Amino acid sequence: MDLTDRPRRLRRDGVRELVSETSLEANDLVAPVFVDATTDERVAIPSMPGHERVPLDESVARVEEVLDTGVETVMLFGIPESKDAEGSRAWAEDGVVQEATRRITSETAATVVTDVCLCEYTDHGHCGLVEQDAAENPDLTVRNDETLDLLRKIAVSHAEAGADVVAPSGMMDGMVGAIREALDDAGFRDVPIMSYAAKYESAFYGPFRDAADGAPAFGDRRHYQMDPANAREAIREVALDVEQGADLLMVKPALSYLDVVSSVDRNFDLPVAAYNVSGEYAMLHAASDRGWLDLEATALESLLSIKRAGADVIVTYFAEDVAAKL
Ligand code: PBG
Repeated sequence: MDLTDRPRRLRRDGVRELVSETSLEANDLVAPVFVDATTDERVAIPSMPGHERVPLDESVARVEEVLDTGVETVMLFGIPESKDAEGSRAWAEDGVVQEATRRITSETAATVVTDVCLCEYTDHGHCGLVEQDAAENPDLTVRNDETLDLLRKIAVSHAEAGADVVAPSGMMDGMVGAIREALDDAGFRDVPIMSYAAKYESAFYGPFRDAADGAPAFGDRRHYQMDPANAREAIREVALDVEQGADLLMVKPALSYLDVVSSVDRNFDLPVAAYNVSGEYAMLHAASDRGWLDLEATALESLLSIKRAGADVIVTYFAEDVAAKL
């Protein structure tokens, strides 16, 4: 045998580590945290094992647990004490996320990213203002431009509370430009926008919608979130957000959309984030509970694949478990 190319030489212990192309670090990971204004004790989220909704009074303690693992950034989601058609608790100065942000930024060293959206705050569960007859109309649309005015208020209220980064996730056209303008006008020129630039209408969000109580009461989100069939369109969506002033570009979900993560990474020179969503977390847990998969190994491999595809930042429910092992 006269083989000249022997890739296996580089797979020997000691050499393999030296030449590995991708590495995971705790400070690339963002841990989602749910703060719930309707409870005064921690409530487990059954479809997301290990995760809980915590009351405001536990928000600092919860973030300290995250920091103890080496993860430095949290993404806050709020469950408000009440909901209405407009989602007015989303921009309230004493809202659950605003109050949690104030406490966490003043009492810990965590970097706080806030979710700028309406679906947890509206009584109909959509990510914006809906047409009057929406419930009877399966083809309903969220009123885009009226919703932008609300998103401006939400983003400014988060910045006023001390948010380090705001992350609009509602897939409204023009949302990044509107939020950028509102933040600048309010004196928050230095608060970056992590835009959910390519967010798909995915069935993998199921467990999150239980966790954050944000499932639409009627219809679905296909008129504003992207069609899972489309990859080229993601480039158009992302380009619009870049033009409007996005600082970080998010693709969501992650694992079923690694082609999109990779093309966003190759086509744009801004940092790329990927959201390893609730369904992607839940399915590994479910399989490992049955003894079908090794949880730790598959979680690590999943996150590594997301980095390999081109993500600089990963939002993941595995953040703490994986960081603690790194
Ligand atoms: C909406 C939002 C959603 C998620 C994050 N932000 C839900 C949705 O679009 O229905 C999903 C996250 C996950 O599944 O982990 N503001």
